[in-house]
Amino acid sequence: MSTEWSAGYVTDVNYTFGYYGELNPLRCRLPLLLSGWHAPKVENACELGFGQGLSVSIHAAAQPSVNWYGTDFNPSQAAFASEMVGLAGADAKLYDEAFAEFCHRADLPDFDFIGLHGIWTWISDENRAVLVDFVRRKLKPGGVLYVSYNTLPGWSATAPLRHLMKRHAEVMGAPGQGIIGRTDAALGFMDRFLALEPLYAKANPVAVERLKQIKDQDRKYLAHEYMNRDWSPMYFSDMEAWLREAKVSFGSSAFTLDNIHELNMTPAQVEFMRSAPDASLRETIRDFCVNQQFRRDYWVRGLRAVAGHEQVTTLREERVVLTTGKEELPKTVRGATGEALLLDQIYQPIFELLLDHRPHTIQELESHLGAKGVNFVQLSSALMILLGLGAIHPAGPGQDISKAKTRTTALNKAIARRSVSVGDIGTFASPVIAGGVAAPRFQQLFWMSKQNGAKTPDEWAAFVWSLLQSQGQAIIKDGATLQGDANLAELKAQAEAWGAKVLPLWTALGL
Ligand SMILES: C[S@@+](CC[C@H](N)C(=O)[O-])C[C@H]1O[C@@H](n2cnc3c(N)ncnc32)[C@H](O)[C@@H]1O
Repeated sequence: MSTEWSAGYVTDVNYTFGYYGELNPLRCRLPLLLSGWHAPKVENACELGFGQGLSVSIHAAAQPSVNWYGTDFNPSQAAFASEMVGLAGADAKLYDEAFAEFCHRADLPDFDFIGLHGIWTWISDENRAVLVDFVRRKLKPGGVLYVSYNTLPGWSATAPLRHLMKRHAEVMGAPGQGIIGRTDAALGFMDRFLALEPLYAKANPVAVERLKQIKDQDRKYLAHEYMNRDWSPMYFSDMEAWLREAKVSFGSSAFTLDNIHELNMTPAQVEFMRSAPDASLRETIRDFCVNQQFRRDYWVRGLRAVAGHEQVTTLREERVVLTTGKEELPKTVRGATGEALLLDQIYQPIFELLLDHRPHTIQELESHLGAKGVNFVQLSSALMILLGLGAIHPAGPGQDISKAKTRTTALNKAIARRSVSVGDIGTFASPVIAGGVAAPRFQQLFWMSKQNGAKTPDEWAAFVWSLLQSQGQAIIKDGATLQGDANLAELKAQAEAWGAKVLPLWTALGL
């Protein structure tokens, strides 16, 4: 369904409840500093098209010193997001206004950070121009724009799939089918059609593979990804041309593994790319080498190189937290060209210091590693990798912690209350990292049980089983529905594992 206010955007199913750490403004400092650029201190932040608003709710709750603003024109989503912010006791100003309306409000401050995730590719040129104009007028000098978008050449072979699905929905779809029905029908049509081996499928075997993957994805996500009127994947240079008006320049990928060329390209490709005299051409060569499909980038208004000595002194003051449990510490890292080992000599001392899951300054890490013969350059590259793997996270500002904790606990209780019936939110808020932490449904409910005073895994499991039973729900494991006591046994095993491995981490992260 397309309404007058929706500008061709899918509005008859609401979006999924994803959390995206890239939208956390406090998280952009390290990737930028490690890439050699100045990074802002953030006072005012804005998220455009926040969907269900899980990211903005978590950030508003966990960052009392940041003034949060945002909009999403879908009123049910904006209502949900506002409710979550209210339940957290935070005071983000969230609206259900279209970009054109919100971006011209007279009561907005200038921003240090503007974020938009999953928006740029799916809106009209007219709306893109509204956003660029907003960034030009409202992003402070030195401020950061985070924007993600579907990228060329990675979509070249598979973009025709989307075209045909959309055409099928337009021609064959009936309004009464609803968008999910039309998406399902279009997928069935594609399946039958590609099985006939049209030359397109023969020339693009990757498209056939993609269709197989698509079929398993969340239908709400698929409707938003494939069924909008607008859908324009872009080359890096086209994006750059759009953003030039806003006076921003590319700083760093928010997905820091993308910044490590040696992980994603062969040595000859790296040399070829580095020989290009122009930074924009180098990014494009890189995107071709890895067949980039989706970029998540930080752009800076007034990009300034941070001088060598200043880079080191600024980095030393940044604090990081280990967000992975002891059993899950990474041993390898995978890039576009394959897998690389994380050398024990460098990574073991890092884990040794960080294993208390408390914030540590990079200066502490430097001293600890220096004693073991590891230098600052090696440490910097290890931090880039560990950030990309999600094994470490920048710590939030220490002075805000008790106010943040009151709010994040209230938000987590609200999230867990929802999870009593449905499992669509898989993230809790942490005051220590001022961001989100993965929290699957049953773990949230074990936590809720513990908050209510239960002490042992058996008690946590019994609590969750009673909740499931009261709603006629059972656990699905390996595709099969568990019967009777098998549910309790499964929950006990999960509660034991949660208590032993996850709870200590959550406690350290202030959950
Ligand atoms: C693909 S979803 C992404 C949501 C969220 N950023 C996320 O990644 O979870 C795009 C969102 O943008 C919103 N949107 C699209 N066009 C808009 C417009 N012109 N003004 C305001 N919101 C818009 C939609 O309602 C939708 O929630």
